[in-house]
Amino acid sequence: MKLKILVGTMTSTADYVAQAIQMDCADLVDDIEVALMDDLDISVFDDADALYLICSSTYGSGDVPDNARNLYDSLDLTPKFLGHVRYGVIALGDRTYSQTFCFGGKKFDERLQGLGAQRIGEVWCHDASAATLPEELGTVWCREWLEKEAIPALQKATA
Ligand SMILES: Cc1cc2nc3c(=O)[nH]c(=O)nc-3n(C[C@H](O)[C@H](O)[C@H](O)COP(=O)(O)O)c2cc1C
Repeated sequence: MKLKILVGTMTSTADYVAQAIQMDCADLVDDIEVALMDDLDISVFDDADALYLICSSTYGSGDVPDNARNLYDSLDLTPKFLGHVRYGVIALGDRTYSQTFCFGGKKFDERLQGLGAQRIGEVWCHDASAATLPEELGTVWCREWLEKEAIPALQKATA
């Protein structure tokens, strides 16, 4: 099984999280690909055999980061049914933005669900004001997500 991590970031934190997962979880899946969202569009979800992980921060007033804009907008402008897509979400934010905490990842989640994609597990949120390392907590979350939720769900779907 291939895990495709799609990274939305402004100052690279989400990219560090994705790269830490790529190293730490290599024993759990056959292949882990990390792709910055720059220049991607909805066709990135065409791979029916991949498991997807959205890893996105939040900017402005609850927006997706600039490099995620094209992909996010394409889900609206060139929509198609994504019923084959199974995905998880890592949403990075800061609780001092109380009205829009982690909206970047949550917005992707909402839009993907609207196109029929199926989220596995809950959206995992990291709070930058909590003085915890997102790479550390993110890899712990991802290992557990893969082992207890995502891999069993995919095995069940193909059985
Ligand atoms: C100008 C600015 C606006 C932000 N807006 C939000 C926001 O609306 N909601 C939120 O939860 N976090 C917000 N954040 C926090 C970032 O999402 C958070 O620090 C994240 O870890 C940054 O990840 P990145 O380096 O991958 O972009 C904002 C940060 C900055 C600098």
